[in-house]
Amino acid sequence: MKRADATSAPVGVLFVCLGNICRSPLAEGVFRHQVRAAGLEDRFLIDSAGTGAWHVGQPPDSRMRQTARTHGIDLDGQQARQFAPEDLERFDHILVMDKDNLHDVLYHDRDGLFGHRVRLLREFDPEPGDFQVPDPYYGGSRGFEEVFAIVSRATHVLLHRLVHEYDLDEVA
Ligand code: 4NP
Repeated sequence: MKRADATSAPVGVLFVCLGNICRSPLAEGVFRHQVRAAGLEDRFLIDSAGTGAWHVGQPPDSRMRQTARTHGIDLDGQQARQFAPEDLERFDHILVMDKDNLHDVLYHDRDGLFGHRVRLLREFDPEPGDFQVPDPYYGGSRGFEEVFAIVSRATHVLLHRLVHEYDLDEVA
């Protein structure tokens, strides 16, 4: 167990999808919300990124923001950015949404040093399905609700695994 006391560097957690406007901003927002509820805000560095550059600088998709809002999660203020090779060094845990993301992130791990940091988010989902978070971008609103349910289940388990791994003291 890695002890993370008040003087330790925060645990870096990065969520990655393709566009950084639907799935990974939601995961960032939900995880941030869960971390805050556990009183652990100062123990984590939380961010999200996309493997593609099409939406860089844009806010999350309005349908994703609306779905999040109905569940009390605020995604306002987020801005899409592209995944950078340096993220492999900067973040302790990189959670990707699907197998294409996994491939595209690991492509940057040229010396094979950081692969152990990169996992499919749904490895933490108690109902993992095909281990991928479906891309809701071209689907209807039900897709966004499904993504919310998947992401919140998985990040909930992820947080508790990290609390255990780093021996963090939850407030609640
Ligand atoms: P995300 O969804 O990867 O969950 O942000 C997508 C957003 C945009 C596109 C694809 C997926 N796109 O092709 O523009």
